[in-house]
Amino acid sequence: MAEVQRTFAIIKPDAVAKKAAGAIIQRIEENGLEIVAMKRLQMTEQLAQGFYAVHKERPFFGDLVKFMTSGPVVVLCLQGENAIQRWRDLMGPTNSEEAPEGTIRGDFGTDVEQNASHGSDAPETAKVEIGYFFNATEIGVPTEAL
Ligand code: RTP
Ligand code: MG
Repeated sequence: MAEVQRTFAIIKPDAVAKKAAGAIIQRIEENGLEIVAMKRLQMTEQLAQGFYAVHKERPFFGDLVKFMTSGPVVVLCLQGENAIQRWRDLMGPTNSEEAPEGTIRGDFGTDVEQNASHGSDAPETAKVEIGYFFNATEIGVPTEAL
């Protein structure tokens, strides 16, 4: 049996603005990923810079922060067997112009930046990213583990 994992997802400002959040959440549920926690919020510049700190030397960093703070996002903690790879497969490749029809980025994104969604790339980053947006009460950590 595959390992049960948690991953972190964002429905990015472009997708929220075009009212695709519901459709994306439906795909998550239809594909058997469990929504452990979810909320809508407006990222501040500081929050977005911290979240994407690994990219701070990249030429697109400034644009990325501007995009991620351009409107509200929906953040989610997802759970299931092999959840990290399954969520990335549902999203499709980074560039929406290259993402196949039927993937979230192919169907709801626009280009290499405005690509509708985010997903963690490994168990270590998933843990950090979930903790960056959700506190223990929100993600249902048992009290004896606190
Ligand atoms: P994410 O972290 O958002 O799930 O996306 P990813 O792993 O597929 O892609 P990553 O390389 O981590 O890039 C993070 C986000 O930065 C924007 N981006 N813009 N202008 C550009 O060339 C460019 N490249 C990437 C995208 O919004 C990408 O998801
Ligand atoms: Mg990434």
